[in-house]
Amino acid sequence: MPANVTFKLDLPVRPRRLRRTATLRTLFEETVLRAEDFIAPLFVVDGKSAPEEISSMPGQFRLSIADLVKECRALWELGVKAVALFPKIDAKLKDVEGTEELNEDGLILRAVKAVKKALPELVVITDVALDPYTTHGHDGLLNAAGADVDNDRTVARLAAMAVRQARAGVDFVAPSDMMDGRVGAIRAALDTAGFTETGIIAYSVKFNSAYYGPFRDAVGSARAVGRKLLSKATYQLNPANRREALAEAVLDAAEGADILMVKPAGAYLDIIRDVRERLGKPLAAYQVSGEYAQIHAAARLGWLDLARTRHESLIAIKRAGADLILTYFAKDEAQALAK
Ligand code: PBG
Repeated sequence: MPANVTFKLDLPVRPRRLRRTATLRTLFEETVLRAEDFIAPLFVVDGKSAPEEISSMPGQFRLSIADLVKECRALWELGVKAVALFPKIDAKLKDVEGTEELNEDGLILRAVKAVKKALPELVVITDVALDPYTTHGHDGLLNAAGADVDNDRTVARLAAMAVRQARAGVDFVAPSDMMDGRVGAIRAALDTAGFTETGIIAYSVKFNSAYYGPFRDAVGSARAVGRKLLSKATYQLNPANRREALAEAVLDAAEGADILMVKPAGAYLDIIRDVRERLGKPLAAYQVSGEYAQIHAAARLGWLDLARTRHESLIAIKRAGADLILTYFAKDEAQALAK
């Protein structure tokens, strides 16, 4: 055939018609991110020190309460309507039983009060788990042999912890511990104490993931866990298990969780989709510290484009079926979306 003959396929269906121009591509965009989709996790420390950057999480800081309030205001102005607060407790205050958590004037409770006072409409979420407070770094209290967490003793403690947080004014408590029966126990304790309006975001499907590494640096629980006999494998889920993941989500919904959560997010998009399809509850997904760190690390090496990879990673989580995304990218992405 001569080179100047043009090929014409007899092709009535041409999907590329809808991708021809930027305008068309916008028209047919199926998944759209909004600043309101994000929940920003923030770390708070006691004292008046300047923000201290977390080395494995570029752009994330441990903030004094005053700086935390400023950061919350900046997020609110960008359209991010919810924050999840995590305390970095002074190592000197940690012990086996996490006694500092009982302190009615403890760091996280003061932080919640300060944020709610400055920004009453901002949705404030706190973690219900003991890892920031224990020398061993586990989310719960240990059994008599010290060989594992004691499920039922931990649940009783976490229910009381949730009530303390509710009293400080949080909108949602977020049990991240993975003990059996904790959502039901927390709901009952909140209701008994009169906090029927305080909601529960349950870390329903939390996997025993290597992606939590940078977070454990941030709150100082990494070394504690590494030194002890235990990993969190007796309570966090095996990353290989899909059926078990669904069973956990079903249980938390039945126990009264208002919002279910899958964590981590990026490596578990199938689980997000499963929970979305099987349960009618609002669904959150947590893009965890390691997901954030790996994108930043590759960007620093010049191997990935930060802004595009960030956006794509978040689009994927929403497309999989998450209504809300906990992400350390909340501020940067909200800023980019505002442009
Ligand atoms: C602990 C907790 C963890 C995270 C949130 N709450 C870590 C863990 O289970 O050790 C991880 C968050 C992240 O990696 O960004 N209760």
